[in-house]
Amino acid sequence: MTAQTPIPPGTDLLAEIDRLRKERNAVILAHYYQKPEIQDLADFVGDSLELSRKAAATDADVIAFCGVKFMADTAKILSPEKIVVLPDLNAGCSLEDACPPDKFRAFREAHPDHIALTYINCSTEVKALSDVIVTSSSAETILAKIPPEQKIIFGPDRHLGGYLNRKFGRDMLLWPGVCIVHEAFSETELMKLKAQNPGAPVAAHPECPPSIIDHADFVGSTSGILNYAKEMDGDTLIVATEPHIIHQMEKALPGKTFIGAPGADGNCNCNICPYMALNTLEKLYIALRDLEPRIEIEESLRLKAKQSLDAMLEMASGTVGKGDLGAKVSGD
Ligand code: 13P
Ligand code: SF4
Repeated sequence: MTAQTPIPPGTDLLAEIDRLRKERNAVILAHYYQKPEIQDLADFVGDSLELSRKAAATDADVIAFCGVKFMADTAKILSPEKIVVLPDLNAGCSLEDACPPDKFRAFREAHPDHIALTYINCSTEVKALSDVIVTSSSAETILAKIPPEQKIIFGPDRHLGGYLNRKFGRDMLLWPGVCIVHEAFSETELMKLKAQNPGAPVAAHPECPPSIIDHADFVGSTSGILNYAKEMDGDTLIVATEPHIIHQMEKALPGKTFIGAPGADGNCNCNICPYMALNTLEKLYIALRDLEPRIEIEESLRLKAKQSLDAMLEMASGTVGKGDLGAKVSGD
């Protein structure tokens, strides 16, 4: 690895990022869980499905992906001719870590009559072993197109899979992965918060465990939760997902109050995604300047992974990140 040129003292990062973005014909894509300063300079902020669609459609030469690695990998799988950079290559995901490809392959081989419906939060290798990828905003649309008698393996998020099973009366076999961020919400603390804010609805991401989902008035993807905030009648919303999405809510609805659901200590800092937080303005500047760290994927692996992603994009047509998983269903 060659030593990295340090950032000269006094560099105006925002101006330099803007200059480099034009010079490189780059598009900056950011997920809602990125720090506000990154969301504010991005060309597009969205949920996983929207970001995949943008990556597939862009005519930029460079995609600077401000999100986690599986998202940048997805951009490269769909747009192999583009240079895709991720400000910090260590920006992983606990769901991806929970699903090693060799174990997933063995699980699939043990269930030859099942298809693999797989959450996009997984490695390229696991995508290559899957039949159809879903995101939280496309899962319902896609599952509805699969005949009820078809046996399904769903991984790696057991909470999203369990939620879909309960809501649609399916019995998909669930891989035992969880998101460490959504797993950290506390039902007891949520109950206290609801008592302090009588009448305030709760919007939850389907990566939350049933103990949180059971108290939600709305369950959906990050875009779905944002749309719910825009359409709700009340003044206050309790948000059970990574709290950086609140930045977009406060920008869109300055008169309303958004409260992050707490973790067990009553404070929601444990619900900041530690992987998403690795991306910084400094690292984004370096990524655009050096065009590193770059995502590279071996071609035969990319082509296999692309099949399950293409199946998602085709089957999800009509999904606009709105309403998505809809109203709550009860836990087990
Ligand atoms: P969305 O598809 O809802 O943006 O979710 C991505 C994610 O990683 C949630 O933890
Ligand atoms: Fe992965 Fe959870 Fe972070 Fe989303 S919030 S990237 S699922 S660890």
